[in-house]
Amino acid sequence: MKNSNTPKLTIVGAGPGDVELITLKAIKALESADVVLYDALVNEELLQYATHAEIIFVGKRFGCHAYSQDQINELIVSMAKRFGHVVRFKGGDPFVFGRGSEEIEYAQKFDLETAIVPGISSALGVPASNGISLTQRRVAESFWVITGTTSDHKLSKDVALASQSSATVVILMGMNKLDEIISIYQNNRTDDLPIAIIQNGTKDTEKKVVGTISSIAKLVQEHQLSSPAIIVIGEVVRNASKLTQYFQEENLEDEFVFQNLDIAI
Ligand SMILES: C[S@@+](CC[C@H](N)C(=O)[O-])C[C@H]1O[C@@H](n2cnc3c(N)ncnc32)[C@H](O)[C@@H]1O
Repeated sequence: MKNSNTPKLTIVGAGPGDVELITLKAIKALESADVVLYDALVNEELLQYATHAEIIFVGKRFGCHAYSQDQINELIVSMAKRFGHVVRFKGGDPFVFGRGSEEIEYAQKFDLETAIVPGISSALGVPASNGISLTQRRVAESFWVITGTTSDHKLSKDVALASQSSATVVILMGMNKLDEIISIYQNNRTDDLPIAIIQNGTKDTEKKVVGTISSIAKLVQEHQLSSPAIIVIGEVVRNASKLTQYFQEENLEDEFVFQNLDIAI
């Protein structure tokens, strides 16, 4: 392994999954990496750019963490001191529910040089690639991106607040709390509010269901959607350019599931 000597950490966003949705800056960082520590949501095809690096998987597989966050922090510092340039490679954007800032802070305590390469967050890239405009003019004036699983494993209280507004709501890590989310919307809004759930967005394995607050639980169960998925709630879903043809042809109460974009089951 070539050693670039200066201990350095670059936190790099890999984008939502499609290998072409990565930045040039991210590719350059991978090319100059001596070590790459990558997470489960990173598309492994992108590791081809790390031509001379030692590559270590530190993510979660089958629900189990390969490394704890403390171990990752320590690994970053020890690898950088030993080999030089460490790239911490994370899905989406590293600062959107990605703990990127914690890793930067830890590395700086040990005098590592640090840099950040933003990525396209799944919160933005997955709706956009499905034609969902989060701030469609005259339909939504804002959007919230909320975690379904806080550090104490609870649904964020912000979901209840957001559900009282007309904002588009994007929930990450929310699949295990879907029933709770539905019941909040049933209390605060209407049963026929559109909702889309997209698993493995932008990847070849993308799978999605589109329905309403009242129909979505059944759809998810029938079509066995699971994590990683984003939940998008709001009127903008009804107008999504890739989905409107189905809404025009059918009543919104009807249920839709799409796999690899175009197959309606
Ligand atoms: C720990 S968060 C990391 C988010 C990431 N930093 C980002 O900006 O996309 C993981 C969650 O992001 C969402 N996610 C990430 N990639 C996704 C994808 N390709 N399709 C759908 N959801 C995705 C899921 O909700 C997943 O549980």
